[in-house]
Amino acid sequence: MSEAGRFPDDFLWGVATSAYQIEGAWKEDGKGPSIWDTFSHTAGKIVDGSTGDVACDHYHLWRQDIELMKDLGVQGYRFSVSWPRVLPDGFGPVNEKGLDFYDRLVDGLKEAGIEPFVTLYHWDLPQSLQDIGGWTNRSVAYYFADYATVLSRRLGDRVRFWMTHNEPWVVAWIGYGWGHHAPGLTSARAALQVSHHLLLSHGLAFPVLKDSGNQSKVGIVLNLSPVYPATESEQDQEAARRQDGFLNRWYLDPIFVGAYPADMWSLFGNLVPKVEAGDLSLISKPVDFLGVNYYSRSVVADDPAGGLTKTRSVRVPESEYTEMDWEIYPQGLYDLLMRLHRDYRAPTLYITENGAAFKDEVAEDGSVRDERRLRFLREHFVQASRAIQDKVRLKGYFVWSLMDNFEWAFGYTKRFGIVYVDFSTQKRILKESAKWFRQVIKENRVV
Ligand code: FCB
Repeated sequence: MSEAGRFPDDFLWGVATSAYQIEGAWKEDGKGPSIWDTFSHTAGKIVDGSTGDVACDHYHLWRQDIELMKDLGVQGYRFSVSWPRVLPDGFGPVNEKGLDFYDRLVDGLKEAGIEPFVTLYHWDLPQSLQDIGGWTNRSVAYYFADYATVLSRRLGDRVRFWMTHNEPWVVAWIGYGWGHHAPGLTSARAALQVSHHLLLSHGLAFPVLKDSGNQSKVGIVLNLSPVYPATESEQDQEAARRQDGFLNRWYLDPIFVGAYPADMWSLFGNLVPKVEAGDLSLISKPVDFLGVNYYSRSVVADDPAGGLTKTRSVRVPESEYTEMDWEIYPQGLYDLLMRLHRDYRAPTLYITENGAAFKDEVAEDGSVRDERRLRFLREHFVQASRAIQDKVRLKGYFVWSLMDNFEWAFGYTKRFGIVYVDFSTQKRILKESAKWFRQVIKENRVV
């Protein structure tokens, strides 16, 4: 048994970002508009009225950002490709200049000894595909597979790790169910249909990406949150089960079991999605890995007035919360990993996102002392290492995020980076947590 807090030799440490949140260059070099361009340019959608037009200007500063990662010593970089940068209309002619950008980025990473982990869809759907219904339209799943073909042909000789989707639950519910994200629709029926089409598109793109190179590893990234009942009462335990079905099992079961969870199917009643014969067998082709985004747990009570799942979130008074008002609960990461191992015999796992937003300030001496983020990460790393000791096949850990960026509907008001970004000058400053992370990577243990 290895020493507590020490990670296996082949463990991979990385950082994560996504295209719309960092790239900027929203209409340069032939890029088409995405639903996030449209949404952020619509008054009232983003709390600070900002957009991702410039963001971290990574489209121009990527070389410097690779240097930053090299300096931190990260071994992997998880980023996403902007679909409309590569295919301005979502399908049809390729925008070579857009594709070239990712080609250079991948080369730059390889030269720096950093393994690229590429996400195909981190929420920036080409606007022209939204114009035909977006993910409510089944054909978009097929366009997604064609997009995967374009990427695999061009990058597949160098990219080994592919992720089809980032957080289908968020796309479905926050984007189509509740409208806080692009495209801003508010229909539970649409959300459920979208959840199925996202999974279907994963299933369609999977063999394409598998074929792109003989070593390619293909997975999907889910936002998972272990659910705990507010009290031990029978009702609250049932409520927790429903919430777990809503957040977690609705995605895990199709992928790992090949079926939607029966209890949720009946709970959703006539809102259930249209599923065609053969869809679930495509969706359940064994993935090489599962990407886990973990930020917080969910604590719920039974509440007949609580929407579709008849639940209500409960605040834990003795807990600490981040700037997102998410409870800090490191133990939840351990519980979640053990559960995936136990209930789903999960294959290789990566933590593809974990991190926290806090108020950061640049001190007089130019430093950013983000002790709370450092503590947050340390406590979560400890839980990850416990899970590995308990035989979970966790192979790597990506901190969200490399740098402060456009946090969706919160604009630039929430800082998740381990690197501080001054958005008026694009200056990057390593926060204390970044310096500490560098040490963790170097020693491969929680320092
Ligand atoms: C996740 C998203 C990521 C970022 C973090 C804070 O849900 O995948 O883009 O917004 O939350």
